[in-house]
Amino acid sequence: MSSDTPFDTTGAVLRGKVALITGAASGIGRATCERFAAAGATVCAVDHDLAGATAVADTIGGLAIAADCGDPEEVEGAFARCESELGGPDIAYLNAGIAIGVADLTELDDDTYRRIQRVNVDGVVYGVRAAISRMERRGGGALVATSSLAGLIPFPPDPIYDGGKHFVVGLMRSIAPTLAAKGITSNTVNPGITDTNIIGPEVKAFLDDAGFPVMPAAQIAEAVFGLVTSGVTGQCWVCQAGREPVAYEFRDVPGPRMAGATGRRPPGLNSDAAFD
Ligand SMILES: NC(=O)c1ccc[n+]([C@@H]2O[C@H](COP(=O)([O-])OP(=O)(O)OC[C@H]3O[C@@H](n4cnc5c(N)ncnc54)[C@H](O)[C@@H]3O)[C@@H](O)[C@H]2O)c1
Repeated sequence: MSSDTPFDTTGAVLRGKVALITGAASGIGRATCERFAAAGATVCAVDHDLAGATAVADTIGGLAIAADCGDPEEVEGAFARCESELGGPDIAYLNAGIAIGVADLTELDDDTYRRIQRVNVDGVVYGVRAAISRMERRGGGALVATSSLAGLIPFPPDPIYDGGKHFVVGLMRSIAPTLAAKGITSNTVNPGITDTNIIGPEVKAFLDDAGFPVMPAAQIAEAVFGLVTSGVTGQCWVCQAGREPVAYEFRDVPGPRMAGATGRRPPGLNSDAAFD
């Protein structure tokens, strides 16, 4: 982050806060566990890879919990344990995700489809649902989900991954106004290519050979830290190599012609953009 950010990125600004992070065993999740712990938070590292989550938790003095993000009971159990043992969470970072790399949907089998949807889509819904009432009891909180650049643009090599990441953007933006009344923020981080296990060795070799810049996971962790400490909501922060995170600017959409309009609007459609 630049030195003119409105929050302290070096001090222990998260002391007394409890952060639950999914996909914590590796990559971006692991880097964010470390970043939050360095800022004083108590971290609950959740992953279906318990050995990996335990290794992270042991390094930072946190709590490791084994849970499959696609299983609603396991997600609820992870949040319940976080609450009973640590009192939180004040921050929930719903980050676990996988890719399948099926470009041609005629080759998509049902098992592969369900495998990605249950992590990338269901996992975020279950995490949000489990977090809300607990954050309310804490007097507020911060929700962040990992989308992707693929949540904002087409990604032909993996359209199901792309669709799920668009879902995450729509979900987190749509719940933001309702949750604002409860003192809970809701945002996404949208990384470009980041050096983690999700990139297979072939892609990694290609990127290295092409000299294409790849971000360290710590750069995404810094953006997530910025999202939870800045107080913004309904935003999608794009992360690209060599750049500061930037809030994506969504274009307005044309509304219906409103000849004879009474000024009344359908419930929930309060945006001026929805009306001409
Ligand atoms: N690396 C990139 O280039 C990149 C770019 C944009 C978005 N992302 C997103 O970042 C997020 C983190 O991925 P990463 O890049 O750190 O990859 P990663 O493979 O290093 O980490 C993913 C983690 O999620 C865990 N996980 C997978 N399925 C799970 C399940 N069902 N339940 C619980 N945990 C599960 C894995 O065990 C692993 O620890 C993902 O949502 C991914 O889509 C990554």
